[in-house]
Amino acid sequence: MGQEIDLLINYPKTKRDVEERGATKTEEDRTIARQFGKDFFDGDRRHGYGGFGYMERFWTPVVPTFQNQYNLTEKSSILDVGAAKGFMLYDFSRLIPNITVAGCDVSDYAIKNAKEEVKPFLKTANAVDLPYEDNSFDLVISINTVHNLEKPELTRALQEIERVSRGNSFITVDAYRNEKEKELMYHWNLTAKTIMHVDEWKAFFNDIGYTGDYYWFIP
Ligand SMILES: C[S@@+](CC[C@H](N)C(=O)[O-])C[C@H]1O[C@@H](n2cnc3c(N)ncnc32)[C@H](O)[C@@H]1O
Repeated sequence: MGQEIDLLINYPKTKRDVEERGATKTEEDRTIARQFGKDFFDGDRRHGYGGFGYMERFWTPVVPTFQNQYNLTEKSSILDVGAAKGFMLYDFSRLIPNITVAGCDVSDYAIKNAKEEVKPFLKTANAVDLPYEDNSFDLVISINTVHNLEKPELTRALQEIERVSRGNSFITVDAYRNEKEKELMYHWNLTAKTIMHVDEWKAFFNDIGYTGDYYWFIP
């Protein structure tokens, strides 16, 4: 089993009021968001990010934590599953020049509108069927992505991460530790299809043979 470890400790905390945001959501908003198209990234706030542009303050403070944890060097290769417009990968390549980066995302819109510097390394692909050879990457990262799948597909996605990694992987998923957090999560959630208690997630990882590291997104 992997480790429960918060590698996003330096990700800036947002001040949004989760209950307020959740209260305005409808099933229609969720349907639109789950298409992961322009509406989700660069449309109305109800449907997703409400404008998804590169901002140094998000991933720049986070990537050194990964560098230290996994001893990443310019000889390393990393894959981001759910890479969106490649912002995290861009920050990895600024921190560690010449590192090999790759990313994929189910959103054709995000890939087409990706940050130019990393666009050549991105592909449109679903996490359930990664277009990479076995054991291709030193580290596979997937942030708040695989919980967007129902359990059978989520299982396949984690098995795919295991297959293409030759060692390390790290994922974050929507989770809760108590009833209050559960309630907030269900109010807040726009796209996730699998949300579980942290203990259920750990049992699930064990059952399906996910051996990588993990942490939680808790509102
Ligand atoms: C929280 S974002 C990841 C942010 C990204 N790491 C960055 O650097 O900005 C989650 C991404 O997962 C993608 N996604 C959702 N379902 C997916 C799937 N089944 N396969 C691949 N990507 C998926 C979404 O399009 C979205 O871009």
